[in-house]
Amino acid sequence: MHVLLTIFLLLLSSAGLRAEELSPAQRLEAEQLLHRLGCLGCHDFNASGANLAPSLDRIGLKLDENAIFKQLDQPPAALGSGEKFMPSYQTTPAAQRRLLSRFLANRK
Ligand code: HEC
Repeated sequence: MHVLLTIFLLLLSSAGLRAEELSPAQRLEAEQLLHRLGCLGCHDFNASGANLAPSLDRIGLKLDENAIFKQLDQPPAALGSGEKFMPSYQTTPAAQRRLLSRFLANRK
C-alpha cells in the first residue's frame, strides 16, 4: 500500500517539474530576451544571430530547464575560455532567466 502511495506521489511531483508550455506572450518575451541580453551576439537561433557558439535551436534535446537556468547563473568553466566564453547572467532577474530557460528547454 505504501509503495503504491509513494509511486503516486513521485509521479505527481515529476509532472510538476516538467517544462510547462508557455503562452504566446511569454514566448514572445523570451525571444525578445534572446536579443536584449545579447545571446544572439554569439548564438544562432531561428536563423538569426551569430555562430560563435552552438545554435540554441534544439538545445532542449541536450539540456533541460534547470540545466540551462544553472548555466545562465554560473556558466561552467568548461564553457570556453579566452575569446570563446559564456558570460554569467547572474545580474539578470531570476524570473527572466527562468522564462528563457523554460523557453529554450522546449526547443526540440
Ligand atoms: C560572448 C558570447 C556568448 C553570449 C553573449 C552567450 N553565450 Fe551561451 N555560450 C557561449 C559559448 C562559447 C558556449 C560554449 C560553447 C562550447 O564550448 O560548446 C555557450 C554555451 C551555451 C549553452 C550550452 C550549449 C550546449 O550545447 O551545451 C547555452 C544553453 C547557452 N550558451 C545559452 C545562452 C543564452 C540563453 C545566452 C543569453 C542569455 C547566452 N548563451 C549568451 C557564448 C555565449
